[in-house]
Amino acid sequence: MQGEPEIPFVDHDYAATAGDRLLSLIKRLVPSPEARHRQLANFAKWAPFVPFKPSPKIPYGMRAKKPLERVIRFSDKSNPLYLNCPIILAAGGNKEGTDLAAYANIGFGGVSVGTATRVPREGNPFRPRIRMLNADRAIQNSMGLNNPGIDVVAKRVDSQFGAARKRELAVGLSIAETPGLQDEEERLDDVIYSFRKAYNVAEYVEINLSCPNTGHQRIDAQLKYLDRVLQSVMHIRSSIPVRKAVYAKLSPDLGERQLQALLELVTQHNINGLVLFNTFPGSRSEFLEMRTQPDALKPVRQDGDLGGLSGRPLYVNTFRAVEYIKNKLPDKSIIAVGGIDHGAKVFDLLRMGADAVQMYSALSYRWFAARRMQAELYECLEKSGCSTLSELLDGDSL
Ligand SMILES: Cc1cc2nc3c(=O)[nH]c(=O)nc-3n(C[C@H](O)[C@H](O)[C@H](O)COP(=O)(O)O)c2cc1C
Repeated sequence: MQGEPEIPFVDHDYAATAGDRLLSLIKRLVPSPEARHRQLANFAKWAPFVPFKPSPKIPYGMRAKKPLERVIRFSDKSNPLYLNCPIILAAGGNKEGTDLAAYANIGFGGVSVGTATRVPREGNPFRPRIRMLNADRAIQNSMGLNNPGIDVVAKRVDSQFGAARKRELAVGLSIAETPGLQDEEERLDDVIYSFRKAYNVAEYVEINLSCPNTGHQRIDAQLKYLDRVLQSVMHIRSSIPVRKAVYAKLSPDLGERQLQALLELVTQHNINGLVLFNTFPGSRSEFLEMRTQPDALKPVRQDGDLGGLSGRPLYVNTFRAVEYIKNKLPDKSIIAVGGIDHGAKVFDLLRMGADAVQMYSALSYRWFAARRMQAELYECLEKSGCSTLSELLDGDSL
């Protein structure tokens, strides 16, 4: 768009490594993206024995022990979040809450487990409900919030929390309302139930207001009801002595007035931060710069719905939103997510004001994507002349 500032780093071609070729082979051997998606926790567990694993090395001469460490502090004195590295696995990557500590093996500094709902869900019956859009390094999915239910997930998170912390992994839990409930009081009770469970066991809670894949209206489009939801969960939080961070995850296709109204609610209810964004509705793909033409997208749901898009085409929107919202709400913590597949993008987003990033789709296109992004972050840091991210972003020197 004319007049818009240039985004420093959008597309890139990284040289295919031996690991990338192995990933292509795995994709041919296991052609179902959903089957591969289910194996991610196993892959993370066995990663120490997997060949062609990149080993991000702290550049020679950088004296800091943990150059990529970030501490997210909140203006309301909620417990700070300590991240060994500011790359978090986005919600959806570990819906079941299994093998949490293993995600440190593949380069993550945190995991947003879930999304979990009060009632366990199989998700959408349609198959396939995940498609790869290789030309765009993107994914189209309509999983439909499949998950074993908050009771199961919260129990698993609780039992693995210590092991995850030992690997210095931050653990968040993403929750959403069980889709399909009609009565407003019942809906509210449902979210509150999941919120309490998640709050008890995780370091931060991410309220998913934006799932496009259940056939029901997203909560971030129902402002009056959202007002009640945010008020209720923050009321509960204030009644519990331990103050943990609460994030809201938004949709990427909100109109300006709708976004404005949402930001007002977030401010009014003292939500600590925003996760920007969920998948982009496939029905609106013409708003993204993509090689895949809108009419080439096939349905991923029985009713013909095109589900949500993730991966590289989302990055421009993510970057602009971080810039815009950080300007409007400088005190809110922002976690950027959508199309982040290179360390230079992480670097630019952190400098733009994001506290951390999340990613998921890049794992399907880059062998050990998070570890490689760490290596690229080191390179960016070295070029900047700083020894740590804290020195670069907070002015703290060693
Ligand atoms: C297969 C799949 C499942 C997902 N499931 C969830 C989910 O349960 N909850 C959620 O908040 N986001 C979910 N997402 C969205 C991601 O968390 C993320 O917001 C989106 O994929 C954009 O990031 P990316 O481009 O790095 O993948 C899912 C994404 C994919 C591809």
